[in-house]
Amino acid sequence: MKRRALYPGSFDPITNGHLDVLLRARNLFDEVVVAVAANHNKKPLFSMDRRCELVEEAFAEVGISGRVIVFDGLLIDLAKEYEACAVIRGIRAVSDFEFEFQMALMNRKLSPTVETIFLMPHETCTYLSSSIVKELGRLGGDITPFVPACIVRALHKQWGRAL
Ligand code: PNS
Repeated sequence: MKRRALYPGSFDPITNGHLDVLLRARNLFDEVVVAVAANHNKKPLFSMDRRCELVEEAFAEVGISGRVIVFDGLLIDLAKEYEACAVIRGIRAVSDFEFEFQMALMNRKLSPTVETIFLMPHETCTYLSSSIVKELGRLGGDITPFVPACIVRALHKQWGRAL
């Protein structure tokens, strides 16, 4: 049986840190499905469908292919639907741990057979997040080292700026 994992997140937008974690996960599983969450706890800059499109564009840019889906429900229900045995999450620093630990244990309670696998991105990505990239870019900083070129373009377009 195919060993399939889900890589869920808000991806608002996808960063080089997300891609780094994804590439590591792809070495461990037959398939890693990127699952773009509606995530009503956050107020995303991009719509769910646009975030999904941007992940696909980033895939094309780094020369990989893979399934990218959107979801607006319980992650564990999605794992069942896709027959995924694992959920991938990136851990950058201790500050990520508390939320991730809580979520992993709740998900395990809901479905004991789905494991959460934490992967550390490359150390050059440990300080990266979608939020910090958006803040940096919005305030005129150079975001090109942190996100694929398609994301740089999408962010500038979203902010109504010429490149
Ligand atoms: O990139 P993020 O914002 O850290 O991703 C968080 C996400 C979307 C993975 C998480 O909030 C999630 O899984 N949401 C779906 C609802 C769910 O299953 N929550 C956990 C159990 S209540």
